[in-house]
Amino acid sequence: MKIVETARELSDLSRSMRQSGQKIALVPTMGALHGGHRSLIHVAQQHAEFVIVSIFVNRLQFNIEEDFATYPVTLEDDIAICRSSGVSALYMPSSESMYPESFATSVEVSGLTARFEGASRPGHFSGVTTVVTKLVTASAPDIAIFGQKDFQQFAVLRKLMTDLDIPVDMVMAPTIREEDGLALSSRNVRLNKDSRRRAVSISQGLFHSLSLFQSGVRDTHELVEPVRQICSDEIKNIDYIAIVDAQTLEDVSEAHAGDVLLFAGTLDGIRLIDNIIFCA
Ligand code: PAF
Repeated sequence: MKIVETARELSDLSRSMRQSGQKIALVPTMGALHGGHRSLIHVAQQHAEFVIVSIFVNRLQFNIEEDFATYPVTLEDDIAICRSSGVSALYMPSSESMYPESFATSVEVSGLTARFEGASRPGHFSGVTTVVTKLVTASAPDIAIFGQKDFQQFAVLRKLMTDLDIPVDMVMAPTIREEDGLALSSRNVRLNKDSRRRAVSISQGLFHSLSLFQSGVRDTHELVEPVRQICSDEIKNIDYIAIVDAQTLEDVSEAHAGDVLLFAGTLDGIRLIDNIIFCA
């Protein structure tokens, strides 16, 4: 596995792989790799011969300084996971090389970023779109893989690629869950025993709503309220529960297959998000 630390090295490597006829996939991450990331890597390997994983804790996307300061960093383990997963190249830029003092550019997607995570975490999405633009520009991948867990992020990044004519196929990999249903997230390590137990109510609520949908319920209120009831005893600080169209992220009054039920809440200061896509 090649480890590269500058955008220049990455674009040289990517160009030479392309010249040798290899298809290139990019898996952008902020490190603290877990089973969810392993699955992104696996999906990438099904689509491309040369898989690049990037690890960069992107300060720009943290609207709360403390969240950035306490974000888990497990570099040695991350490198070992990438090696054992058969990753072709690991891109680990320093903060200085990513954002030198003279850095003055920001990439913004309007509309899709106005609600949900965008409303609750001002500046978050411009941090994400700016760093992902830099990552895809340097790596020039054929495809980029992102997890379903950050559903709004995926929708925003897909719009970014379309609007800027960036020729990258966006692939969404399914959310990986613990046995009890909790969606894997790097933030889960910060949950204490009690919050970890409470957090399970999120997936319980979402899957209950999915089973209502599968038994024929379509009215949004009837699909959302049971989630609120299941979660509200355990999670006092629910930010949003909404059913939206998967492309526009606009509310729907009647749910259809393909629509998404989004959830966000805070448990002991830790923000947790999850979602399910309605299916028959
Ligand atoms: O989903 C993440 O881990 C981050 O938002 C991403 C896409 C790597 C950008 O920093």
